[in-house]
Amino acid sequence: MKLYRLDPIGTLDGLKLCNEEEPRPGPREIAIRIRATSLNYRDLKVAAGAYDPRTIKPRPIPLSDGAGEVVEIGPGVTRVKPGDRVAAIFSQRWLAGRADPAYASSVLGGPSDGMLAERVVLSEEGVVPIPTHLNFEEAATLPCAALTAWHALFARGGLTAGETVLTLGTGGVSLFAVQFARLAGARVIVTSGSEEKIARLKAMGVTDVVNYRATPDWERAVLDLTGGEGADHVVELGGAGTFRNSLLALRTGGRLYAIGNLAGEAQINPQMILAKRANVHGISVGSREMFEAMNRAISHARLKPVIDRQFDFGEARAAYDYLASRAHFGKIVIRGA
Ligand SMILES: NC(=O)c1ccc[n+]([C@@H]2O[C@H](COP(=O)([O-])OP(=O)(O)OC[C@H]3O[C@@H](n4cnc5c(N)ncnc54)[C@H](OP(=O)(O)O)[C@@H]3O)[C@@H](O)[C@H]2O)c1
Repeated sequence: MKLYRLDPIGTLDGLKLCNEEEPRPGPREIAIRIRATSLNYRDLKVAAGAYDPRTIKPRPIPLSDGAGEVVEIGPGVTRVKPGDRVAAIFSQRWLAGRADPAYASSVLGGPSDGMLAERVVLSEEGVVPIPTHLNFEEAATLPCAALTAWHALFARGGLTAGETVLTLGTGGVSLFAVQFARLAGARVIVTSGSEEKIARLKAMGVTDVVNYRATPDWERAVLDLTGGEGADHVVELGGAGTFRNSLLALRTGGRLYAIGNLAGEAQINPQMILAKRANVHGISVGSREMFEAMNRAISHARLKPVIDRQFDFGEARAAYDYLASRAHFGKIVIRGA
């Protein structure tokens, strides 16, 4: 079967198309024919060698996110059957309850082999059924970006109708945050560095938008839009380079979800967290239980993920390059082999 491996890690040139024997499922394992995968910012960092090498397996199969159909089951499997349409869960061992550092080695696409292959074998516990109204390409966008936004806003944040959500940029996590916020009857404010993407947001009906390049102190614009109060929830995707602005844009006593690291380096003064009486939550994707809850909401609302572009399996490198260009709006998908 065809698959990709990162060999070596450290440069995108390490992304190699390989041919290997098909893996077969052992007891309580399932084989999935992968029909689509999707890319996350994290996949660029894995390929670049940005993670502690002790936490990444040698020559990993990349990408955490994928969806496909079960084609074979091992002895003792009861959760799924051949023909089922499933998506893999990001952290294979985080099924419910709190995150545990011990689960880190079960994360797909780096610590464990990922989804950029014709066929993968996982534990029967490591998948969820995909919403019936979604095709495989759409379902492949859910495991990391969507679940992270869901975990922050609902599992942790308890978002309610009428509140205001601020989210940064127009990448995968951010556009799912937009869609989930609107689903909940919340108001949404989005920052973007691109006028062309701002036009696309407006076409989606998102009218409260701030260009963070044209307005470097964009937190002021958020305060203006909220009558001086600030946003109840901030989906903080920039990290060091935006954390200060995000805190200033937060309503007193609001919730800030520390998720990303898209932007630069800076010093944060912890006194600002006190000044805002801020609830700061570190978010790391989510559990299978959260994924199932999210899928119920996605199914009920018939929500469709925003896919910017799809690539063929043989074009994986072009998909990575497109992600690195930051020209995308929403998700990038690679179709199955
Ligand atoms: N903690 C977790 O569990 C978790 C899970 C998923 C993702 N993440 C992190 O969350 C971040 C987003 O991930 P993703 O996969 O959604 O990324 P992505 O799809 O690659 O998003 C990239 C977009 O972010 C925006 N952006 C870039 N620099 C920015 C800046 N300085 N300020 C504001 N926006 C900026 C740009 O949108 P515009 O062109 O519109 O400006 C860019 O197109 C990453 O740092 C990722 O590592 C963390």
